[in-house]
Amino acid sequence: MNKKTLGFLICTLLITSAVLPVTGKLNISKSEDFVENISYIFDDYPLPPPISVDMILEESICRRMSTREAYTSQQVTDEELSTVLWAAFGTTENGNRSIYLPDGSYSTIIYVIMSDATYKYVPESHSLSLFKNGNYLYIGQNDGAPIKFGLVWNKSIINDELIGMAEIGMIAQNIYFDAIALDLATITTGAGVDELNDLGLPSNEKPEIIMPLGHPSSPYDFDYSPLPPSNLPIIVNNTYSLEDVINNRLISYRWDNIPLSEVEESQLIWSSYGYSYLWDNVNNKRHRTLPSAIGVYPFKVYAADQDGVYLYDPSTHSVTTIVEGDRREEINNSLGSSDIWTATASWIIIPFYNTNNYPQYLNWWYYEVGAISHNIILEATALNLSANIITDISDINGLRSALGISSQTNLQPWFVIPVGNSWTIPNKTPDIPTIDGETSGSAGTAYTYTFNSIDSDGDDVYYYIKWGDGYIENWDGPHQSGEDFEITHTYANQGTFTIQAKAKDTFGAESDWGTLEVTIPRNKAIYRLGFQFLLESFPILEVIISRIKNL
Ligand SMILES: Cc1cc2nc3c(=O)[nH]c(=O)nc-3n(C[C@H](O)[C@H](O)[C@H](O)COP(=O)(O)O)c2cc1C
Repeated sequence: MNKKTLGFLICTLLITSAVLPVTGKLNISKSEDFVENISYIFDDYPLPPPISVDMILEESICRRMSTREAYTSQQVTDEELSTVLWAAFGTTENGNRSIYLPDGSYSTIIYVIMSDATYKYVPESHSLSLFKNGNYLYIGQNDGAPIKFGLVWNKSIINDELIGMAEIGMIAQNIYFDAIALDLATITTGAGVDELNDLGLPSNEKPEIIMPLGHPSSPYDFDYSPLPPSNLPIIVNNTYSLEDVINNRLISYRWDNIPLSEVEESQLIWSSYGYSYLWDNVNNKRHRTLPSAIGVYPFKVYAADQDGVYLYDPSTHSVTTIVEGDRREEINNSLGSSDIWTATASWIIIPFYNTNNYPQYLNWWYYEVGAISHNIILEATALNLSANIITDISDINGLRSALGISSQTNLQPWFVIPVGNSWTIPNKTPDIPTIDGETSGSAGTAYTYTFNSIDSDGDDVYYYIKWGDGYIENWDGPHQSGEDFEITHTYANQGTFTIQAKAKDTFGAESDWGTLEVTIPRNKAIYRLGFQFLLESFPILEVIISRIKNL
């Protein structure tokens, strides 16, 4: 590299540090030429804010359908892409993710394939990061779609591929809901996903699902046509949009044992596996609340309340009583999760995979159980109820026996989803975390910070930390209440940063933010060096400066 090039690079770096906000992240539009160059160096493209989609959640669920062929050439706008990606996997106002996984291990990478290049979605900064130049839109089916999402399992984050698939099923539901609410089209495809390897994925990543995003060539055409009333009330709209329920999700670990209304039970079990109240005139069919590989729908959905156990029939939106009486304590005893107490949950929904259906596609059935659980959590929030997901079923025979289906060993339970009103005996929120550590230092040096929050109920705590430079720690824990939690952080750039930390207990109660200001002074040596290079590269500068001095 010659001196002039080096001088230019250092000059660019100096200018870059001047335009970067203190977060150290680019926060400027891709369209400005100058910024385009800087973005190119960092390969990071901030997305515009998502559009507010005000469609009511139940209508979004009822409009969910797959568009297999025929995407028009019309482009998807940056705002539309931003909206769909945020709903799919974005970060919410209170630091949660748009989908809920009990262990908080988010192992999906979303590749965004476009005609110019392929990008990775970065949820923390709601931006796209350039992965590979070139047009890879030929990957997968659905020719003509201007965007394709490659949903990939990151083996380094969780080693259980099936749980990774359940997560993808949750993400995909939100892609369907917001895409169609925006009059865009999509479909889950599992066939041909290996073509995603053409992108040169790292060896710890496995392609699972491709979803196109584009405009359908036939406009949507639905008629309101609910299934006739049966022993469950018909499905109604509440008042929340998808965005509302994503931002206000209610997760509980204990419930108050107050029975739900018939309407609430009906809405919840419908969201898990029911049929739309809309008739699709384009395909002449009624879609279900989620897609299913090869259209099979191999789950049987059971549910229990204080009065009995029921089997759901989606085709008539009705239930059959399997057992009379309260079996919730027995259900609770069959589950391994000590944190979650289901015996007082008002409505416990349990989807069972029927192993007589294509066991070779286990991955896809886990996608489906993820989608089922996700829908229940969304609908519970729309009803101002709270839910959770239990993945640890320690005694499967015990669970079948509790539900009165001991002989049906072909039915395999994977997830249990309790719903109800949160326990009313108040669980105290943990104290605001204290933050100790260096308040000034130099860029590039790792410093250790200590966080400590006391939970007066003695519950374990998790910490959510924003370092102030765009980096976060996403609910690190569990840690013992009152015990120091030490973690190091390195600031790459100069600036004043506010570390923010909040604590959450095992019942989901969150503290307010604790803060600590850290100053990383400007590294004068680098600027001096850069200036020296500029003078050496452009000797005329020296003459100009000495003339100015002599004025
Ligand atoms: C895990 C999974 C994999 C799928 N794979 C394909 C696929 O490879 N090709 C395809 O055309 N449809 C695929 N589908 C879509 C289903 O065929 C579709 O959801 C089903 O026929 C129901 O139609 P609907 O989604 O329009 O209601 C898949 C769905 C799921 C859930």
